[in-house]
Amino acid sequence: MLENLFQNNATWARDRVRSDPEFFRRLARQQAPEYLWIGCSDSRVPANEIIGLDPGEVFVHRNVANLVIHSDMNCFAVLQFAVEVLKVRHVIVCGHYGCGGVRTALDEESHGVISNWLRPIREIADLRADELAQAESRSAFEDKLCEFNVQRQVDNVSNSTVVTDAWRRGQEVTIHGWVYGLKDGLLRNLHVSRSA
Ligand code: CO
Repeated sequence: MLENLFQNNATWARDRVRSDPEFFRRLARQQAPEYLWIGCSDSRVPANEIIGLDPGEVFVHRNVANLVIHSDMNCFAVLQFAVEVLKVRHVIVCGHYGCGGVRTALDEESHGVISNWLRPIREIADLRADELAQAESRSAFEDKLCEFNVQRQVDNVSNSTVVTDAWRRGQEVTIHGWVYGLKDGLLRNLHVSRSA
């Protein structure tokens, strides 16, 4: 069962040690990532790989449609740990074009629990309906909404007690909003960064 995954893992671990014999021993002692990545669960958007970082270099939280909901204990426990314990310098909220979560949020049909989860995206669409109405196609509309969603989640991180408390203490942490393109593998900076 899933033997291929164990084989892949054994090969990967062996290759790692071959190029850096101390790699795992060093990592096992501590992690000191400079970045927290908050991204979509989509299997095509693997955080480490996209930004070319090794294990130990980026702390990661992913959920469907990269949402930061103030009542989400999971997300906020990650954010608090990243900021207060790991002392990351950058929090990156990264959405992606072609996000199934964003598309599903617009669907009139109910999809059960996931529709509840995605409800905040519908609210963003309602709030920014005028801007979205200028989109020339359905995909342009959805892409724009992906960007607006990232902007909103950057606001949610920035307005959180974890981040405002950190800024009040004088801790340097910057919040960024990016979007990844599934079609070209490239990141776009939305230039909505926030710092103290
Ligand atoms: Co997605």
